[in-house]
Amino acid sequence: MKVLLFTDSGIDDTFALLYALLHPQINVIGVVADYGNVSRDRAIRNTQYILSLVGQEDIPIISGASRPILGDEPVYYPYVHGVEGFGSIIPQQQPKVLYNFNSIFTLITESSEPVTIINIGRLTSLSVAFLLHPEILNLVQNIYIMGGAFLVPGNVTPYAEANIFADPTAASIVFNNASPLSIRLFPLNVTEKALFSPEIVQSISQHTTEPIGQFLMNSFQYYYTYYQRQRPNLNGAPLHDLVAVNAVVNPQFYKYIQRNVQIIDSSPLGKGITIADLRDRPNIVPTQNDFSFIVLDMDYQKFIQDVHLTFSSYFQSIN
Ligand code: BDR
Ligand code: CA
Repeated sequence: MKVLLFTDSGIDDTFALLYALLHPQINVIGVVADYGNVSRDRAIRNTQYILSLVGQEDIPIISGASRPILGDEPVYYPYVHGVEGFGSIIPQQQPKVLYNFNSIFTLITESSEPVTIINIGRLTSLSVAFLLHPEILNLVQNIYIMGGAFLVPGNVTPYAEANIFADPTAASIVFNNASPLSIRLFPLNVTEKALFSPEIVQSISQHTTEPIGQFLMNSFQYYYTYYQRQRPNLNGAPLHDLVAVNAVVNPQFYKYIQRNVQIIDSSPLGKGITIADLRDRPNIVPTQNDFSFIVLDMDYQKFIQDVHLTFSSYFQSIN
C-alpha cells in the first residue's frame, strides 16, 4: 500500500513513522513535515533523522506548513515532546534537499496505485493541498486522520484535541472537501486506549538495533514522564499516532461508526471541538454519503502484538 504521511514529528509520530517504514505492506512514498509538536524545521530534521536510522533516506521529505492557515503564531508542546520533538535527544543532521509542496501532487498522480494519506499532525498542509488541487486529492483512496474527541475530554482544552484545536479552519476545509466516505478518523476516544508502558517499549526495543532501541526508550521515557505527571493513574502513555497507521494494515482490529463530522472553529471555549450525532437512532442510514468513518474502539491486545511483531520481524529479516 502506497502511503503519503503528514506528520508534526513528536514522540508518538516517531513510533508511527517507524512502524510505517518497517511494515512489509506499507510503502511510504513521501513524508510531509509540518509545524505542530515542534516547528516545521525541527519536524523536517527529525524526519530526516528517522529515515536515516532505518537507511531509507531516499524517501522524499516535503516541506509542509509552518503555521496555521489563518496565519496565527504556532504553539509548540515542549513539555510533551521535548523542545526538539524527541524528548531530550537532539538529532544532529545535515540539512538535505527538500521536496517542494507541489511534489504532493506529483506523488499522487504518478503513483502506480491509489495512494493512502495518513495525517498525524495538524491539518494545515492537507487543507492547502485540497484548496490547490481538489481533483488530485480526490484520487486518494483513503485519508486516515488522528484527531478529535467525541463526548470525551480533550487534551488541550476541556473539549478539544490538539491536532484539530491547532487549526480547526484547516480541519473543516479537509472535511468539507474530501469525499466523506474516504475519511477514517481516529479521535482520542480510541487513541487514548493505545497505552504503552516502559516495559512494552523495552521489549520492542530489544528486537531492534542498538541505536534504534536506545532512541525508542529514551524518547518514550520523556513522553511517559509527562503522562505520569499529568495522569498518574494511567497505565502507560498513549501513542495516539501509531493507532492511525496500524489501522491502515489492520482494519479488523477497529470498530467504527459512520457519522457526519462537524468542527467548531470559533468561540474561545469551543475552538476545535469535533461534533457528531452519536445517538443510537434507527433512522441513521450508514451509507449516507456525507458520513465519515469514526473509529471508537480497538482490540488493544492484537494491536500491541502486531506492533511487536512488525518491529521484531523487520530486524530479524535484515540480520
Ligand atoms: C496528537 O497531538 C500530538 O501531540 C500528537 O503527536 C498527536 O498527533 C494527539 O492529540
Ligand atoms: Ca502528531
